[in-house]
Parts: sequence; structure tokens; C-alpha cells
Amino acid sequence: MAEFTLRLRRYDPESGEAAYWDEHTIDLEPHRSVLEGILQARARFDGSIGIRCSCRAAICGSCGVRINGQPALACHTHLDQAMKGARDGVIEIEPMGNMPVLKDLIVDMDAVHWKKVRRVTPWLINKEPIPEREYIVPHEAMVDVTQSMACIQCGACVSDCLSMEVDPLFIGPAALAKAYRFVGDPRDAQHSERLNDLAQDPHGIYDCTHCFKCIEACPKGVAPMSQIMRLRRISGRDHGIVDANNGERHEIAFTNLVRDHGLLWEAELLPRSYGGDSWLAKFGPAAGRELLSSLPVIGKALLRGKVTPMGALKAHKLPDEDLQQVKRIYATVEGRDEAERYELNLYISGYDEDMEGAEGPPPDAAAAGAQGGDGGMAGAESGQPGQSPERSPSR
Ligand code: SF4
Ligand code: SF4
Ligand code: FES
Repeated sequence: MAEFTLRLRRYDPESGEAAYWDEHTIDLEPHRSVLEGILQARARFDGSIGIRCSCRAAICGSCGVRINGQPALACHTHLDQAMKGARDGVIEIEPMGNMPVLKDLIVDMDAVHWKKVRRVTPWLINKEPIPEREYIVPHEAMVDVTQSMACIQCGACVSDCLSMEVDPLFIGPAALAKAYRFVGDPRDAQHSERLNDLAQDPHGIYDCTHCFKCIEACPKGVAPMSQIMRLRRISGRDHGIVDANNGERHEIAFTNLVRDHGLLWEAELLPRSYGGDSWLAKFGPAAGRELLSSLPVIGKALLRGKVTPMGALKAHKLPDEDLQQVKRIYATVEGRDEAERYELNLYISGYDEDMEGAEGPPPDAAAAGAQGGDGGMAGAESGQPGQSPERSPSR
């Protein structure tokens, strides 16, 4: 047994009082969870502490909180582990971010998280005609979507999403990972419609700023940002969707500027994102309008020394030898046959141990598992993020 002090963020919107910190010291073995610590504090000192939980086994997704400033499942964080991140020897526990607090550590998931999940049509719209028995799905396709199927809807990624902080209407990491679950499913009939909807929405796939926060936050290795990047690639490259938000053009301009100059030429990025991937883009009406409306920001950047007039007019210079190396990387990647494009799925590697030694998976095994929709979690649970990667074909 050891003593741990918990500092809990308390808030009851109905009381009219401001939020405050509340400290309790509990006795538990160090390997017990932060959730058990909170429940002990509630049982021993204050029955009014609000915390939501159910499974206590990192499955139901109910106990999402922030521990020492980081989103986590309270039932999946050991007390000794939490102590390592405690600033002054006290474990600090707060409600998740980006969602209104209902009471103490309980946030309103319905107002934000579930609303956004409903936004992406979170069910399969099956192809017609419906086969007499079952849809046969390639094994690789199911491995690919298993990563997004592993989501337990805890909201940790939503809590830490920087884009959502700036734009609360952003569809967000969890809902977009859910969208990939259906865009990646060969049985779904509306890939193009789904992608077009998410690309054209100003709060959709191009609203993500690649901050990686959702990848760090997710306790299940879903890597929502990676799912968003897949949605973008499939939308732009495979379905040729050019979005009204200039997201696709922005990505093309970004990668081509780095290819041509070895480093990003920021001053060219804006006009090319709006006017197309050429030096002449700045004379296009869309780019001109955007440049004009950005003048106050550009002026401030110049005044604060973040941009210099010379830096804006001339591209950064990379030594020729280094530039050739950058170009070689591009040539290798761009020289690949599109049909042979591979993406790394870091979530699942190989087959279940039970199947090792068997003659290999039956070709229809994935199809049979797929029939249960999101129910095929056994495979997802056995795979751990960060294991050796499997190459899985993208669509
Ligand atoms: S990577 Fe994108 S979706 Fe993920 S937290 Fe950052 S902004 Fe949000
Ligand atoms: S993607 Fe991960 S962090 Fe986000 S809701 Fe699902 S399980 Fe939680
Ligand atoms: S109580 Fe179910 S995930 Fe923590």
C-alpha cells in the first residue's frame, strides 16, 4: 500500500459557483488505477465527486479524463505511472477538453463527440444487389479498417484536438476515423459521396492541421490523424475530388514546392494553394483575392521579422547536392505505379497466434469476420500499435 494525493477539478454548473481544486489522499497499491483512486476518494471522503465509469478495463471508453494535463483513461493509468508525470507530487485530474463539463470529471459527450460521429453517417450503406449469403471481403481490406474499428469512443482525441479548439465545428479526429472505417470498407456503396461530403465541408478533412495530438492521445492506437490522411489521399488521388476549401490544391502546392526547392517557399504557398500549382498562380483572381485579404497578416509578419521581403521574393536555397537528394526521393515515390501504392498499417501484424501453424488463414475468414460489422474486435485487441508493420494495399 502507498499513499497518493489526488487533486480533482470540481465544477457543478448548476451551483453557479466557479470551478475549484479539491485534494484527497488515498491508500492503494501503486499498480492500481487512477480510477480506483478516484472511487476510493468518493467512497471515503466525498460522495458527490462526479466521475463516469463502467468496465474498468479500458473497453467501454467511459472514464476519459485528463491526468496531469494529458488525456487518458482513468482505469488504464496506474497510480505509480501517473505519479511520474505529477508536477508537485500530486496527481492532477481534470475533465476532458473541448467538451462542456456536466459535473466535475464528467463531460457532455453527446453535445460534441456523438454529434460529430452522427455527422459522418456512421453505418454501412451496402452495395446492391445483396448477395444471397455474404459479401466476400479481401483480408487486407479488413485489416486496413480494423485500426479504426478499434475505437472505443472515449473522446480522448477530441479532448486534445488543436483544430477543434480553434474551430469547434471541425468534424474532429474520432468522427473522421469512423468515416474511414466505411470509406475503407469495400462493402460500402457510397465512398465517393462520403468523401465528397467530407472534402467540401469547410470543417471536414482539410480542417486538420496534422498536429499529431490525437495520435498521442488515443489509448487504442487508432491514429485518427492517419485515417484523416488516408481519407485525403483517397479523395484527391483516387476520386479526383477538388474541394472548395483549396485543401487538395494546398497539399499539391506544398509537396511540389518542396520537390522543386528542397524547402518550403512560404510566400509561394498561398497563391498556389488558391490559384493552382504555378508561379503565375498569384495573378489568378482567387489567389489575388486571398492575397489581398491576407495583407494585414503579411504586414504583421514582416513587422515582427517572421518574414523578410527577400525571403518572400526568393526561395530558400538548398545546396545543389542536397536538392538532388530530395529530388531523388520524389522520383522514387512518384515513379511508383499507382496501382502498387502501399500504405503502412502499423496496427495489426500477421495473424492471430492461434492461427500460426495452421495452413494459413482461409481466404474467406476475413469476410466471415466482417459480417459482424464492428464486432470483429478480437483481432483488434490482439494487435498492438507499434508492432512490426504490415504492408496493406490501399484503395
Ligand atoms: S492531427 Fe488533426 S485531428 Fe488530430 S488532433 Fe491534430 S488537428 Fe485534430
Ligand atoms: S480514436 Fe482513440 S482517442 Fe479517439 S475516441 Fe476512439 S479510442 Fe478514443
Ligand atoms: S471504465 Fe471503461 S474504459 Fe475506463
